[in-house]
Amino acid sequence: MSKYTDKLTKAEDTFTFDDFLIKPGLSSIEPKDVTLGTKVSTNYNLNIPVVSSAMDTVTESQMAVALARQGGLGVIHRNMTIEQEVQEVRKVKYANELTVKEVITISPDETVAQAQEIMDIEGVSGLPVVTDEDIVVGIISRRDIKPLRGKAADKKVSEAMTHNVVTISEDTDTETALDLAYENKVERLPVVSDDKKLVGIVTMKDILERKKYPNAVRDKNGRYIVAAACGPFDTDRAMALSDAGVDIIAIDSAHGHKTDIIKSAKEMNKNIESDLLLGNIATRKAAEDILKAEIDGIKVGIGPGSICTTRIVAGVGVPQLSAVSSVADVAEDYGVPVIADGGLRYSGDVAKALAVGANAVMVGSILAGTTESPGEMTIRNGRKYKQYRGMGSLGAMTGGVGAGKDRYFQTSGSNMNSTKLVPEGIEGVVPYKGPAEQIVFQLMGGLKSSMGYVGAKSIKEMHEKAELVHITPNGMSESHPHDITITNESPNYHPRS
Ligand code: XMP
Repeated sequence: MSKYTDKLTKAEDTFTFDDFLIKPGLSSIEPKDVTLGTKVSTNYNLNIPVVSSAMDTVTESQMAVALARQGGLGVIHRNMTIEQEVQEVRKVKYANELTVKEVITISPDETVAQAQEIMDIEGVSGLPVVTDEDIVVGIISRRDIKPLRGKAADKKVSEAMTHNVVTISEDTDTETALDLAYENKVERLPVVSDDKKLVGIVTMKDILERKKYPNAVRDKNGRYIVAAACGPFDTDRAMALSDAGVDIIAIDSAHGHKTDIIKSAKEMNKNIESDLLLGNIATRKAAEDILKAEIDGIKVGIGPGSICTTRIVAGVGVPQLSAVSSVADVAEDYGVPVIADGGLRYSGDVAKALAVGANAVMVGSILAGTTESPGEMTIRNGRKYKQYRGMGSLGAMTGGVGAGKDRYFQTSGSNMNSTKLVPEGIEGVVPYKGPAEQIVFQLMGGLKSSMGYVGAKSIKEMHEKAELVHITPNGMSESHPHDITITNESPNYHPRS
């Protein structure tokens, strides 16, 4: 009988990032020729394959905006109330809305003093002047009021306003709007319908921001794309997020391969407009089973994360490159994108994850410690640091609304104080890294370089062409810098700690 010994001798060999390198191939591709567009869920494409972790020290609206501007995706964490999470989603959606729909207006019959007061209270420097039927008849700005100040505060708005208003229609593109604003030296352009009714306003500031981030990912209304996390059974949260216009909802669980979660995902899907990601899983069988819930994307990773202790505490997990490749083998046939979540330290790891079938990577520690990550900065020995903690850490499970607890199946039980919790994550700090934009630039620069070595000009080609070589620990130690004391910090390399 070899019932138990077979468990050892017949066990699968599994691998992770440091076990392989990508083999250089014949190439005519320069890094500058590479495009990084990818599918992150059934209905959403990104311009770079980077997604930020749904963690309370990584992603709130600021991070999500920063990533959307670069072409990636932020997943707002759920360690907050439903109302707060909805608010974070809204902040992203309204961050660079070209046409502001809720416009503060004034009637031509009101006084200049009233116009002045509204502008002061609302913090705007101009108001479209509209009739009772919402027809735009003028615009009044601080410039119009200034010469009248004091003397003619009781004058009617209609006497002080600019009558010749430059308006645009709803389908005017940004270039035309910008040209019009420059030619007419105006800061804002009212948007009007065919019957001249006011529908919104476009400001120069918003147009210029659009031009500054040409790679940004936007929805069909021109707003940034954003995702948000939701507990596996929290349909109320999912529906509230969907109503708020979130593009993608990520069911956030440490073990997505559970019958009740698959059932719940199926139900949730019926109640939301947004795409639905499900995770985390790490095996081929899990992929086959969760795909039955007709989800729009899969998150892969059990225990590879820098702050994870699942593999140590529970003894469970699958090294990440094996997990990603097993799931991708199944998911590709269904046309469902795979996100490799956790364990990435360098840009080369992003390339390796894509080489084995991932469509995008989810990163926590790489983006923790940036300007946009939530949390206070602290100083230690003259260096700046920011907090980074696992969602299964004691701090995350007892802080916020304790979302980490149900991620790690610890919601039941009478007395859930910290002595009754079994953490699967740790808390710490990471060095302050500056704006996320710079980190993403280096990460994508390394990926483009990798694709140049492979001869892949797209992520699809990376899936097809990239071959891997299996290396020994000696191969890995040869790969890192050696026999030198590093004197200057590099923006894309830090020694392993
Ligand atoms: P990195 O390596 O990018 O990993 O820092 C981030 C990912 O780790 C997962 N995560 C956890 N896993 N215990 C775990 O076992 C935790 O406390 C924990 N918190 C986050 C998550 O998938 C994240 O994206």
